[in-house]
Amino acid sequence: MVTRDPHRFVNELDEAAVERLIARLESRAKDAVFTRLFDKYAARLALPPSAQVLEVGCGTGAMMRFLAKRSDFSGKAIGVDQSPPFIEAATGFAQRERVDDRVAFRIGDAHNLDFPAAAFDAVIANTLISHVTEPETVLREMARVVRPGGTVAIFDGDYASLTYAFPDHDFGHQMDVALASASFNNPRIMRDLPRLLPAFGLEVNAAWGDAVVEIGNGSYFKSFAETYAPYVTGAGLLPAEAVEGWLAAQRQAMENGTFFASCTYYTYLAQRS
Ligand SMILES: C[S@@+](CC[C@H](N)C(=O)[O-])C[C@H]1O[C@@H](n2cnc3c(N)ncnc32)[C@H](O)[C@@H]1O
Repeated sequence: MVTRDPHRFVNELDEAAVERLIARLESRAKDAVFTRLFDKYAARLALPPSAQVLEVGCGTGAMMRFLAKRSDFSGKAIGVDQSPPFIEAATGFAQRERVDDRVAFRIGDAHNLDFPAAAFDAVIANTLISHVTEPETVLREMARVVRPGGTVAIFDGDYASLTYAFPDHDFGHQMDVALASASFNNPRIMRDLPRLLPAFGLEVNAAWGDAVVEIGNGSYFKSFAETYAPYVTGAGLLPAEAVEGWLAAQRQAMENGTFFASCTYYTYLAQRS
């Protein structure tokens, strides 16, 4: 039984699987449930007019496009991701949305950032830290490249709180746990940040949680289930037939208007000493 976080090992996936992840990132970025969470912390970044911002693990660049379009942002943003197809997609989307004068993308590893110390006013990790191999190395790198007084923003889910309703509660719980462990290297990392951030000279200025809940209908959690349930089977965590049954029941619940799913997301804004 081998679990392989698909986002961490995106460079080992076939082309079709990479395309599905690109589609998932873009559909998530259009989901109001999700975009309001980015807006909530972007509004509190307090960036200077000529701000230089780095997003680590930028995927298709949706967050940096949002940032570039904000009326309170007049600086420059760079997104780094390990995946060449994601960076190619990010560059194309930024051109199409005419923000490529303010946003650029390049390939890189969050564990070893190719930037000098103190190069950025703010460094963001938006649903990255749950995927990386060594979260502490990534936090050290983020702390290194942000300037003293600058902000590190970390947003991610606490995937130990991820839950879908399912009539058989025992299997529903097994499926919740399997989804979290098949899809995330670090499903509980957001609980560790109050302890980890200060160790890298990052003082927590603000931190909060948001329960993302869909009752009746599902959009965010619909695409989440459809994207990640196959990885539960692929990792051999639960039998394929049972996972298919669970997925069918989720689709049926959405059709009936009886769907329920929830997960708590956390945001930390920390200042570099
Ligand atoms: C869930 S996606 C989030 C993408 C983007 N931040 C967003 O919110 O739309 C996680 C991203 O982290 C990237 N990633 C994972 N491990 C990485 C690493 N070690 N270095 C750089 N990128 C990494 C993946 O390639 C993927 O694009």
